[in-house]
Amino acid sequence: MPRLAVLGYPVGHSRSPAMHNAALAALRMDEEWSYEAIEVAPEDFEALVRALPGEDFAGANVTVPHKLLALAFADTASRRAQEIGAANTLIFGPEGTHADNTDAGGLIASLPGSPQGQSALILGAGGAGMAAVWALGAIGAKVGIWNRTPARAETVRIEVTERAEQFEVEIEVGVVEPEPEAAVDLDLSGFELIVNTTAVGLGGEDPFTELPLRPDGFAPGQVVVDMVYSSAPSTLLAAAAACGARTVDGIEILVQQGALSFELWTGRKPPLDVMRAAARG
Ligand code: ATR
Repeated sequence: MPRLAVLGYPVGHSRSPAMHNAALAALRMDEEWSYEAIEVAPEDFEALVRALPGEDFAGANVTVPHKLLALAFADTASRRAQEIGAANTLIFGPEGTHADNTDAGGLIASLPGSPQGQSALILGAGGAGMAAVWALGAIGAKVGIWNRTPARAETVRIEVTERAEQFEVEIEVGVVEPEPEAAVDLDLSGFELIVNTTAVGLGGEDPFTELPLRPDGFAPGQVVVDMVYSSAPSTLLAAAAACGARTVDGIEILVQQGALSFELWTGRKPPLDVMRAAARG
């Protein structure tokens, strides 16, 4: 009876169990396989991960705040997990625990077209921002990072540049700030892709007060991604859509990364529509 789980702290809000169990049921794998949420504090993470294979677990998703620990504790890791410096997927096998990362692939798969050669603006320099910078930069987008605290954007730029040298990957990345005469807002006209990885919107904040963006600053031809999950379109995506831009929300990225993890564990491609419907609840 192979079991799967998402490991997080907290994890009660996770939509992964509903999404993966729906996919298992659609493929008639649910008599054998199951997927659950396990809340685990950072200090207990290593012991839990070591115990899971003995309790029939075949693999796990790893979410905030364990993605760095997951990579550190694994016996082996995919090149993409090593490049990004974080793991969101663990696979338990006879040779031990293997760490992988499907966040980058999930972001790329959620886009309407390849971002290769495009200019991308990443808002935010936390863990999600770092992963987005790497995912887009490594596929050949030219990436600009904006962060409320500019020093953190600079730290991500330096870390990505150093890691790119280490792994011999070409990445073009810089820090962007509004022009002084524009006062507070960024000129988005040079960007084909805009990705919000900040927490703005999660607690109902107004993105147009917190971020250097204007609601009418988007244009047709742009793709705007908001990693914040919400059932209704976020304020940011609603404004982008009203300007004629294409939009991608956090649930679509969750579905795409989940589908890639599902395939790593089971060897089967899950039905995306079933996962989408379950994730949207
Ligand atoms: P994660 O790992 O999920 O990306 P994080 O490390 O807590 O989470 O980072 C949160 C991101 O949201 C940061 O880029 C943060 O900006 P700061 O580095 O300046 O803190 C950004 N963020 C959170 N609240 C914000 C707000 N009200 N306005 C602008 N940026 C905000």
